Amino acid sequence: MKKILLFFLLFFTVICSKVSAKTLVVYYSYTNKCHEIVQTLTSHIEAYVLRIYPADKTQQYEANNYAVGSQLLSTIQADPNNANSYPEIDPVSTSLSDYDTFIIVTPLWWSQMAAILQTYLFHHGQEMAGKRVGLIVSSHSSGISGVVADARRLVPNANWMGNALWINNASHGNRETLIQNWLSEIDYFGVVTGISDVKTSEPSVIYSIGGLRLTKAPSSGIYIENGIKKIATKQ
Ligand SMILES: Cc1cc2nc3c(=O)[nH]c(=O)nc-3n(C[C@H](O)[C@H](O)[C@H](O)COP(=O)(O)O)c2cc1C
Repeated sequence: MKKILLFFLLFFTVICSKVSAKTLVVYYSYTNKCHEIVQTLTSHIEAYVLRIYPADKTQQYEANNYAVGSQLLSTIQADPNNANSYPEIDPVSTSLSDYDTFIIVTPLWWSQMAAILQTYLFHHGQEMAGKRVGLIVSSHSSGISGVVADARRLVPNANWMGNALWINNASHGNRETLIQNWLSEIDYFGVVTGISDVKTSEPSVIYSIGGLRLTKAPSSGIYIENGIKKIATKQ
């Protein structure tokens, strides 16, 4: 009897320590595509959100055939190890030590990571070392390998969660499915919550947050249905 009790105690300690893992979504958005991506993403995962803003709110990055954006990126490329190469952003007080998983969501500018988010990661990327980090990139149509390279430079020694998710503007309307597939592909719920035996292909398989299989969705609280974390609120 004692052994059984000990087993359950150990089981719930492991589950609870994984469930208490905290995720921070960090993003920048100029025309709100990334903002919408973050809204969709956080309807599927439990996460804190940090939006980065440029200090200069007057810039129109698309003006003169995107000249300002192009100039900001050239300055970074010319001297990427110099803090003065990066455009100023609003101060951020969020402490990254409170989190063990990060999802970075960024627009692509001139095939690179948008300069504003580069500033944040230049100063804080090192604090993500050894932690789980995922990347989502929004572009009009350009491929994202340059942004992935920027992320690896600015966030050294991260434990990258699978491949980056690319959502181009043509597939932006389909982001819900793309995000769900990506979360499943990187085994987000398995890695972050420790509940990896939930298969998205199995219809209506429901688990409590503690990993117990339920016969139906609860009327309130957090539960996991077909691999997707959901929150039920009483009407
Ligand atoms: C300065 C600037 C440069 C851009 N360069 C590219 C580019 O090279 N290729 C591309 O496909 N899209 C480019 N875009 C478009 C954005 O990547 C795309 O619209 C993205 O969805 C914007 O995200 P946001 O709405 O969150 O700002 C650029 C946008 C800006 C503002």
